[in-house]
Amino acid sequence: MRLVLLGPPGAGKGTQARRLAERFGVPHLSTGDLLREQVGAGTVLGRRAADFIDSGRLVPDALITAIVRGRLHSGRAADGYVLDGYPRSAVQAKALETILAETGTALTAALDLVVDEEEVVRRIGGRQVCLRDSGHIFHLHTAPPIVRGLCDHCGGELYQRSDDRPATVRDRLAVYAEQTAPVARFYADAGLLRTVDAEGTADEVTRRVLDTLGLARVGGRR
Ligand code: AP5
Ligand code: MG
Repeated sequence: MRLVLLGPPGAGKGTQARRLAERFGVPHLSTGDLLREQVGAGTVLGRRAADFIDSGRLVPDALITAIVRGRLHSGRAADGYVLDGYPRSAVQAKALETILAETGTALTAALDLVVDEEEVVRRIGGRQVCLRDSGHIFHLHTAPPIVRGLCDHCGGELYQRSDDRPATVRDRLAVYAEQTAPVARFYADAGLLRTVDAEGTADEVTRRVLDTLGLARVGGRR
């Protein structure tokens, strides 16, 4: 299973990608999480990426593609992966084609999570993430932690992402419309695009994704 998840900020890519990766037993590769880890660790890459992330701009294509290429060539990705947040420009979509050719593999599908802007604002407005355990995602109303302010999985403190301020969210949505939306057309032309209605609960969206992938109900579970 080699999946690409597309969709605007706050569409639920991270939420769904984690579920799909667990279900298929493949790595969840989120370029946003990778970059935030680097920022948190204060590495050279993190210091270069921080300004781009905080202003809602994309980090340079070559920088992020080098990281993705390394991950997709590694043995951990041999049986598949769920890519979340990459590709998000036409240049990155072409770069991924090159990486697939290098590894002699092909994508299963590109899933485009469609959700309207008001819902995006609601989702991002209540989001809290755990920075200690690489990005477990919560929401104050729709996915609250058991203990307020603490991660259910590792007990780490929960934070609001630095790029979740309203002004930055507006900039990220503009960047998405201008630079990332064309990526969906790229996959539509390749016959790989699967559009998924991402409104409703996270469970409902997961069911729609699995239906879209043609996966039948097994033992009452999807
Ligand atoms: P990234 O981290 O990828 O952010 P994004 O694409 O803007 O998407 P988000 O992570 O904000 O949202 P999501 O779709 O994952 O939603 P989530 O599941 O959290 O990128 C951040 C930055 O890094 C970029 O701006 C850029 O600077 C840089 N970057 C990353 N990749 C790059 C690349 N390839 N090239 C260049 N730069 C790159 O859900 C949101 C909230 O809603 C959560 O609270 C969740 O609990 C809740 N929720 C989820 N589903 C539902 C539901 N169905 N109903 C109700 N609530 C829900
Ligand atoms: Mg995310």
